[in-house]
Amino acid sequence: MGSSSRKFVLAVGGLAILSGSLAFTPQFAAAGEVEEGKKIAENRKKGNCFACHDYRGAVLPGNIGPKLINIKQRFDKKKLRAQIWDATKANPNTIMPPFGRHKILSEQEIDKVVEFIYTL
Ligand code: HEC
Repeated sequence: MGSSSRKFVLAVGGLAILSGSLAFTPQFAAAGEVEEGKKIAENRKKGNCFACHDYRGAVLPGNIGPKLINIKQRFDKKKLRAQIWDATKANPNTIMPPFGRHKILSEQEIDKVVEFIYTL
């Protein structure tokens, strides 16, 4: 086999792998986002949400903030994201850190945390 045809085989193989992974992404994105959001929320160096909030499944939670419960009934995702992005907008005296404004979490990380909190 000449080197040019070997390159062609590699290119076709690469495309097959790429299109395969693209085809699977949408199916698992939703569940994956919630799972990743939970990890970010519970990471002491990231969200650390349970330092202040109790919620279903939280281990040794704090009680500085309210229990995170019935979120869907009280928040749409936009309002929830705004609360996490900058809690001082709703309450200037809050002690909840402004995760977006202070860049404690990235925009993508906040999106995932929203997906997780929305399941509570
Ligand atoms: C330092 C403590 C602290 C941390 C850490 C914290 N919060 Fe809060 N949070 C609060 C307090 C206190 C409130 C009560 C509202 C206020 O102060 O304006 C609150 C309110 C909320 C609310 C509104 C709850 C309701 O029932 O109205 C949500 C949602 C929320 N926090 C989510 C989060 C998420 C998600 C994280 C992690 C990314 C987080 N919080 C981290 C202290 C904290």
